[in-house]
Amino acid sequence: MLIGIPREPAALVSATPDTVGKLIKLGYDVAVESGAGEAASFPDTHYRDAGARIVGGEEVWAADIITTLDAPSPVQRQALAPGATLISRLAPGRNEDLVAEFAARNVTAVAMDAVPRISRAQSMDVLSSQANIAGYRAVIEAAAAFGRLFTGQVTAAGKVPPAVVYVIGAGVAGLAAIGTANSMGAIVKATDLRPETAEQVESMGAEFVPIPAATEQSEDGYAKEMTADQAQAAAQLYAEQSAQADIVITTANIPGRTSPILLTAEDVANMKPGSVIVDMAAANGGNCELTVPEEVVVTANGVTIIGYTDLSGRLPAQASQLYGQNIVNLLKLMTPGKDGTLAFDLEDEIVRGITVTRAAAEKSAAEVLWPPPAVKVSASPATAPAEASASAVNEPAPEAPSSGAWKWIAGLLGAALVLASPMQVAGEYMLLLLAVVVGFYVITAVTHKLHTPLMSETNAISGIVVVGAILQVGSSNLLVAGLAFAAIVVASINIFGGFAVTGRMLRMFDGGKD
Ligand code: NAI
Repeated sequence: MLIGIPREPAALVSATPDTVGKLIKLGYDVAVESGAGEAASFPDTHYRDAGARIVGGEEVWAADIITTLDAPSPVQRQALAPGATLISRLAPGRNEDLVAEFAARNVTAVAMDAVPRISRAQSMDVLSSQANIAGYRAVIEAAAAFGRLFTGQVTAAGKVPPAVVYVIGAGVAGLAAIGTANSMGAIVKATDLRPETAEQVESMGAEFVPIPAATEQSEDGYAKEMTADQAQAAAQLYAEQSAQADIVITTANIPGRTSPILLTAEDVANMKPGSVIVDMAAANGGNCELTVPEEVVVTANGVTIIGYTDLSGRLPAQASQLYGQNIVNLLKLMTPGKDGTLAFDLEDEIVRGITVTRAAAEKSAAEVLWPPPAVKVSASPATAPAEASASAVNEPAPEAPSSGAWKWIAGLLGAALVLASPMQVAGEYMLLLLAVVVGFYVITAVTHKLHTPLMSETNAISGIVVVGAILQVGSSNLLVAGLAFAAIVVASINIFGGFAVTGRMLRMFDGGKD
């Protein structure tokens, strides 16, 4: 089948030379509209080198599969051949007319923005890949408008205080913004409706400021709407925190609805002159009452409000690369034979979730498959991205439920065994004590995100405990024998638990089923 990559109105493009090469490996032919990647610094020659044909607009829209960033214009939609497949961000929940039009044209419409929030689908999630870049860019925009240093400095000429950045909404974009602001030296605070984000915020080096009576994660992975009491408590918190902050970045979205107003005109009036708000929900109405989508507004009291709706598009090369890779990952799933033929396995919850309309061979109209059945999120929300990392940030690091506790018990039993043995000398006690102190400092200095790999490392220590305990288990001293036996049991749980956790992590990364 032929995949068409059209030139888009924005700087972004739905495939890069790198992802074109991967599509060709899946057995597809690829036709790229001349100049499609120019604004993202991907010249036609690079696409040609990757194996694509460079064609005119007409040919691109006549392809079997067309991938775009956003829904095509009415003129472009007319060019779609019956039976063709369009893969794009279609917001089908908000665009009933568009869905009806695709059905009437007998076109298969695939919504990249409807990928279900399950671990297996993370590599295809364009909302995450773009929000991650947008969160980074929001801080860059804020820093440029702020006109002062983010980091604190003590110089011969005097002290410069660090900027205070307050992030509302610690989802993918919010966490990326936190990581960026933190790496630039600012003091970062963040709030989210979902209390479980506290750990993620803290692991990024920021302070979590909770909303009294905050809500919980909803079943589809998004925040629920607040109750009146929560809304009042939150409004007060946002007003207080934004008055103290230099930069406020808002990212709060409720799916399918206009974004909630979190900062009123009065809150903005109480902010310091020179402070900056970046409203990352501007495209959806905005989180600040004074936001003008796509524009920068400066209020009478000198607060700059940035309402850009194309934040990820302001870093077009990487935004295009990640979007294109999301499409490659989806097509890997939908091209099991690697033969360039798209397979719609509607039993697969990802494929079912994103298929909005399905063209029918013998009929003149496509079947409407929207809305899909609800998918329950299979994993808790993502952990924070590694600090200042540009990679997508969605996978929760699975911890063995009580694996930490078992490590400590195994260690203590091992230590008790050493103490109970008459053969040990004082030097060994000192060594043990030192190991405990060093171990404590190492573990507390390692970020939460890395505790699981760190624990896997300690499997080796448990192995040594087992060997020591086996040597002591035959002791005539009942206490020593008993402790040795308990140490063998606990350290074994630790070792096998470690293998189970590692196995689970590996399955997650190799795209295995949930
Ligand atoms: P989003 O763009 O829908 O919302 C951004 C953040 O704002 C969320 O954390 C939300 O709780 C928060 N928020 C909403 N209203 C708020 C309010 N009034 N006050 C304060 N905070 C408010 O969310 P996003 O970034 O797309 O992701 C949400 C969660 O889903 C994340 O934890 C993410 O890791 C997870 N996720 C999981 C995926 C998967 O498993 N495939 C894919 C994408 C995200």
